[in-house]
Amino acid sequence: MEFKKEIKNIQVYKAGKPIEEVKRKFGIKYVYKLASNENPFVPYYIKDAINKELKNINRYPETDCFYLKDIISKKLKVSKDQIVIGNGSDEIIVLTLRAYIEKGDEVIVAYPTFLIYEIQAKIHQASVKRVPLKNFRYSLSDMAKNITKKTKIIFIANPDNPTGTYLTHNEVEDFLNKIPKDIIVFFDEAYYEFVPSDFPRSLEFLKNRKNIIISRTFSKAYALAGLRVGYAITTKEIANILNLVREPFNVNRFAQVAAISALRNDKFLKNTVSYVLKEKEYLYSEFSKLKISFIKSATNFILVDFKRDTERLYNYLLKRGIIIRPMNSWGLNNFFRITIGKHKENKIFVKYFREYINKEEEKT
Ligand SMILES: Cc1ncc(COP(=O)(O)O)c(C=O)c1O
Repeated sequence: MEFKKEIKNIQVYKAGKPIEEVKRKFGIKYVYKLASNENPFVPYYIKDAINKELKNINRYPETDCFYLKDIISKKLKVSKDQIVIGNGSDEIIVLTLRAYIEKGDEVIVAYPTFLIYEIQAKIHQASVKRVPLKNFRYSLSDMAKNITKKTKIIFIANPDNPTGTYLTHNEVEDFLNKIPKDIIVFFDEAYYEFVPSDFPRSLEFLKNRKNIIISRTFSKAYALAGLRVGYAITTKEIANILNLVREPFNVNRFAQVAAISALRNDKFLKNTVSYVLKEKEYLYSEFSKLKISFIKSATNFILVDFKRDTERLYNYLLKRGIIIRPMNSWGLNNFFRITIGKHKENKIFVKYFREYINKEEEKT
């Protein structure tokens, strides 16, 4: 059976290795996953909300996510009609492409950046223009230069994954003032909760431009990656369109109630953000001691320039129960990405990382 020819040439997304698989394969008890930018802490405070919802799991969830939208809208001071809830923020990316792309339309992405934009754009028959990063940052001026009459969507991961770098409010504002207003600019703010103060106040952009979509997620700082829930804030018109192409029961019951609990619990969020900042400094300082280069990050992960093969390092660490992410799939061959874990996990990583480097040096 023939399938869509666009699918033949896509690079399949390789996710970080699951903890369970590594335990099974190597027969080890403790596995530390520092590969998918998750939160290392379990938000046990959602237990009551989950238990309460158990009695309803024979019923489909509310398709409209009424209560979750309500709390987001109050928190962000936007109308409920401007919010779309997704099965993770990944789904918001897919809905945008599904709703707006016709064969041959152009989509602009940075390279390298979060891979889902390009993979999904191709599946939706878009022609993808890659704009190389400059010094590990998005080059908005180069992105602007690549705009043609066919450009439909520009994806901007801010902060970016895998580099962890970010664009400031002024840079983004300047860019928006220069480009045609009919292009959709999609700001993916998956790491929003970790960013510094000169980060764009992106909701303000919605006041002057119709075609802005901002996506955020509960998977990172809110620690709900396993439940899959994210959202878009956009104009009422775009929200309407995205809802038209959305599956009716895309966000399950546990995800809805857990996300509501998460938004009510500032303490967990604050503790996570300050913990991550502290541990990031710890890893920066350990990398510096080992004379290893890295890119300063506005997120909960660090891109490391190892300057030599990372597959061997990856396998060495994997056998010792530590999962990191080699960056070959992103075209960054001698780089790896590490998610900030608990202090104990970070320390164990440093121990074996140092051991690996020392053994390498002995060999040469
Ligand atoms: C930049 C970026 N956007 C979106 C996502 C997907 O997040 P979600 O779990 O909300 O689908 C990720 C996850 O790693 C990410 O790094």
